[in-house]
Amino acid sequence: MIRHLVAVVAASTLALIGTADAQRAIVIKFSHVVAPDTPKGRGAEKFKELAEKYTEGKVRVDVYPNAQLYKDDDEIEALRSGHVHMLAPSLAKFGPVGVRAFEVFDLPFILPTREALRKITEGPLGKRLLGQLEGKGLKGLAYWDNGFKIMSANRPLRMPADFAGLKMRIQPSQVLAAQMRALGATPQVMIFSEVYGALANGKIDGTENPPSNMFTQKMHEVQKHATISNHGYIGYAVITNKNFWDGLPADIRRALDKAMLEATQYTNAIAQQNNEDALAAMTKAGTTTFYELTVPEKTAWQKALEPVHQNLAVRVGKELIYEFYREGKVAGAN
Ligand code: LMR
Repeated sequence: MIRHLVAVVAASTLALIGTADAQRAIVIKFSHVVAPDTPKGRGAEKFKELAEKYTEGKVRVDVYPNAQLYKDDDEIEALRSGHVHMLAPSLAKFGPVGVRAFEVFDLPFILPTREALRKITEGPLGKRLLGQLEGKGLKGLAYWDNGFKIMSANRPLRMPADFAGLKMRIQPSQVLAAQMRALGATPQVMIFSEVYGALANGKIDGTENPPSNMFTQKMHEVQKHATISNHGYIGYAVITNKNFWDGLPADIRRALDKAMLEATQYTNAIAQQNNEDALAAMTKAGTTTFYELTVPEKTAWQKALEPVHQNLAVRVGKELIYEFYREGKVAGAN
């Protein structure tokens, strides 16, 4: 009886300490729109693990995947107003908040290798671009990879002419809108969490995604054909609220910087494999026929999409596009 009482008292004391600790901990809400088993989902979990470890529990990171808290069209506002503290929107989603330069990453075939991309995101140019967020009350902490996109629909997409008349879902980037128009399709901006339903009920005909997103949203179940075109890239800027970040104690910020650096290395190391695994799983599922472009087909896509670079140069920045070309050349990409 006494032993039982001691155990109960000990357990409640621990629970109380736990509550006190939890109350003292700085809580970082990290919201994102994709599934946990994607490069971004896994990166967020890795950040949580490392942030809690390096701050010895002084910080708790709560990760909210699958747009359960905020969706792509309201998450940045939620970050600015302090309802969440960390996001990792795709680089294609910063135009609506006034940072158009990131749309350079959406230009078709601009940097066709991860090495070339890495040179940009890990170099001074990447840093400069992140710096543009500061005027918007945001702070860019890192770039995270997802991967190269494939195009899907319910008809084979081999030549640009195959896109004629298709309604293709895009992220809210003017470059992506121009890309779809250049292929003869009609672009339709739509938030990520609505894409599966819209494909299933025929509101849209097709979309573009890295395999990891297509698979984890089950889009392969409602798309009969997909072309592994690798025509563009989806990557993320991990961002926080600048005032929140600057207001953190310096030692906490140092620990979080270390956690972010390592979570970034982890995410970028697993992203390619995660996408390859997703593609293999979808191939195995057998609901979609995957197709690789022949050299003449790829040349036809590149030719059709070339004007997008010129036509969007004013919006994105001509000099910035040249900088990307130069980096690509150095990396032997084009
Ligand atoms: C999309 O909307 O297609 C992507 O930006 C989703 C994501 O975060 O990868």
